[in-house]
Amino acid sequence: MQEELVLILNFGGQSSQRIARMVRELKVYSEILPYNISLDRIKSLNPKGIILTGVQENSNTSIGEKCYKQISQLGIPTKIVDEPDSDEIKNFLFDSCSCQGKWDMTSFIETAVDKIRQRVGDKKVLCGLSGGVDSSVAAVLIHKAIGDQLVCIFVDHGLLRMNEGDEVEEIFKDQFNLNLTRVNAQDRFLNRLSGIADPEKKRKIIGEEFIRVFEEEAKKIGKVDFLVQGTIYPDVIESGAGDANLVKSHHNVGGLPEDVDFEGIIEPLRDLFKDEVRRVGEELGIPKHMVWRQPFPGPGLAIRIIGDITQEKLDILRKADAIFREEIALAGLDKEIWQYFAVLTGMKSVGVTDGKRTYDYTIALRGVTSIDGMSADWARIPYEILDKISIRIASQVPRVNRVVYDITSKPPATIEWE
Ligand code: XMP
Repeated sequence: MQEELVLILNFGGQSSQRIARMVRELKVYSEILPYNISLDRIKSLNPKGIILTGVQENSNTSIGEKCYKQISQLGIPTKIVDEPDSDEIKNFLFDSCSCQGKWDMTSFIETAVDKIRQRVGDKKVLCGLSGGVDSSVAAVLIHKAIGDQLVCIFVDHGLLRMNEGDEVEEIFKDQFNLNLTRVNAQDRFLNRLSGIADPEKKRKIIGEEFIRVFEEEAKKIGKVDFLVQGTIYPDVIESGAGDANLVKSHHNVGGLPEDVDFEGIIEPLRDLFKDEVRRVGEELGIPKHMVWRQPFPGPGLAIRIIGDITQEKLDILRKADAIFREEIALAGLDKEIWQYFAVLTGMKSVGVTDGKRTYDYTIALRGVTSIDGMSADWARIPYEILDKISIRIASQVPRVNRVVYDITSKPPATIEWE
């Protein structure tokens, strides 16, 4: 239990997350709950204060006022906030609620480490490490708490970017001393994907194979007691925890191995927003470029090769993508662009190299700006930088004779091409 908690009761609208984040920025831990939570539950959480959000934004005004009256009788400072204004929130937290504001990533880590130790005792924990931000931070945090009682499995499906697999192994096994097994399953995945062009079939095969490899490896370890999941707070909210309408069930949950025998799940990041997870990662000493990296889809490069996947196509795409990312970082644009990557289009066209006709692949470059990936605008990368990237890719990557830049936003296009 956090020492200082301020509850955000969500009556609808979009403001609850913004307000929760503002409160946390002021170093007071906050949680979003649906407005119809019982008074007993509120009392049991023992909050320092309660903020009601979204009251004016929809037709719940009368419910909001009724709730406000009931909650006020608990004797806990309560306030309706609709247009979040930091000064107003600051005054509420520090004057009305007498908060001290001591919550930050350091205190989060201390509390989390204690909780993990208490829950795990001398038992064994298994974690699937992908090299993505959430699983990496979860693994390092748990390792800090229980050391080698944590066993990590990294399934390398061969669909990662240039050097990524080696880097994951190097950082987590060699630097952090995690008990990590890398499963080199590249050939298995390539075999199963052979001849498959349909994007949804690719996703399904990769998902299934992933679980299968993970289960096989977990069996070798023997009995484990807990399994780690990298759930973060937006996943929890999306599953309905803070949702006034309780309509959505979360789509990432699932995909848990069925054949692994374990008694519970550990989700050490389930209270954190994404940028908080990144800050915890930094605090734990995970390299900045890993912690702040762009989103990368689970099926990896498989959905950035249009049509069927071969080793040759993967090699081509990896080289082109590495050049693109290197140049964007050199230009200092990596923080501004939400996602930027290369796509190997299934298209070949005529070109000319050293006076000879070629008939080779087209690489498409995709760069988008976005807040949450739900909608996106194509990134206005300066022409000179695009020019440099195009020249390098066309001359340094074999079998590529044409480079194009995708100037479509989402909608109507998606960020990925498949
Ligand atoms: P789209 O392409 O739908 O992508 O505009 C939105 C965000 O989701 C990522 N994405 C995926 N992530 N598995 C994932 O883990 C997937 O199958 C997948 N497809 C898309 C995409 O990279 C973007 O950040």
